[in-house]
Amino acid sequence: MSRDLDQQAIEVLRQNDRGGFTVPTARLYPYQWNWDSAFVALGFATFDGDRAWRELELLLEGQWANGMVPHILFRRNDPDYFPGPSVWRTPTHENGGGLFPSGGISQPPVLASIVHWLVQQDGNHDRAALLFEKLMRWHRWYHTDRVPNGHSVVATVHPWETGRDNCPDWEIGLSAMQIDPDIEVYERKDTDHVDPTMRPSKEQYDKYVSMIKFGRDHNWDQKIITNDGPFVMADPGIHFMLLRADRDLLALAKRLNRNDAFAEIENWIAAGVKGSDMFWNDEIGAFAAYDIRSGKRSDGFSNASALCFYADAGSDYQRMRTLENMRRIQTKAKFMMPSWDPEAPLFEPQRYWCGPVWPQMNHIISKGLNEHGEHQLAEKMRVDIAALIEQSGFYECFNPITGEGCIGANFSWTAALWLAWASPRNNAVAA
Ligand code: GLC
Repeated sequence: MSRDLDQQAIEVLRQNDRGGFTVPTARLYPYQWNWDSAFVALGFATFDGDRAWRELELLLEGQWANGMVPHILFRRNDPDYFPGPSVWRTPTHENGGGLFPSGGISQPPVLASIVHWLVQQDGNHDRAALLFEKLMRWHRWYHTDRVPNGHSVVATVHPWETGRDNCPDWEIGLSAMQIDPDIEVYERKDTDHVDPTMRPSKEQYDKYVSMIKFGRDHNWDQKIITNDGPFVMADPGIHFMLLRADRDLLALAKRLNRNDAFAEIENWIAAGVKGSDMFWNDEIGAFAAYDIRSGKRSDGFSNASALCFYADAGSDYQRMRTLENMRRIQTKAKFMMPSWDPEAPLFEPQRYWCGPVWPQMNHIISKGLNEHGEHQLAEKMRVDIAALIEQSGFYECFNPITGEGCIGANFSWTAALWLAWASPRNNAVAA
């Protein structure tokens, strides 16, 4: 059974391979996505090490002159996707953009962690060394251009930048902003490919498009967008993944003898450790998103709240309360870890980031829990993803109550994480 699934997972990755980079799934997401590619490399590494590095190298070809690594690379136009390159209209290479048209925002910076992991596996220092400077520039961009004036934590300017597109966390920022009356008439494509009840609503989409218009109207000047854009919130997901990636980047710098980089990375880590408290909502006992403009905190426990272990952040008390929440949620959901608290308002088990379980999030949450000695819960998250895949296939995400697969089928990161982590074969290797 698990051997068949191994073969199928390899097949999914091969089929989504577009020549050195992978699309998340055919049709619905026909381009290269940032954090998807990072996780996908873990899967390739189990059967084709060279191809794993290639995925990451190609992703970094999209890096902008300011250091940002965009969330999507539009290597070739695909009319099946909205909003494509003609909507984003980001700068060309000569004007500060990457080698290809791209999105004008970034995505969770897990890449340095994946590069560090790869080099630990295969010892390929030469390939890692070629990426090191690019990773530094991307992290520097996050720690400068994405920190609003007068603040000390990294902001996010679009829910899509967080990778948790329609999580209820973003309602605070979304409800405080207006739909730009001048947005173009547009036709969504996502709802042609999948069930609309699983996707974000029309009002949310109008706001997403309004944020893109703001960036376009300001020539994608990231400092203006971070300071004056229509949506400026802070995400515990980006915060914790960046803090972890900073720690991994420091470890990589040590491996590569890049002593010149130590002090700068150490400063980023110190800022990240200190900044974690800004996310703490004591009423619910969780690290939660907050709106930089109004100072309002979200009051729901999300799967990003559970990443404090992965980042090695928070006090004993904060971690204890986080675990209490996770144990409570475990009694409500058959499969851990839902993207939104099943007992919180706006929970919907099949609507994307309002409830479904996401394999890549489970992977890093579980890694963090293991590192903090919480092996039982960590193992539950792995076993649950394996069971979900066995029951429903390589879906993008899964209903935490019924286990039904949601949205995209034959999904790259699900296949990759089966190979690299969830498959019972890995357990046998570990044992
Ligand atoms: C959706 C997800 C995002 C992912 C992208 C491609 O937008 O919310 O996290 O990167 O699809 O898979």
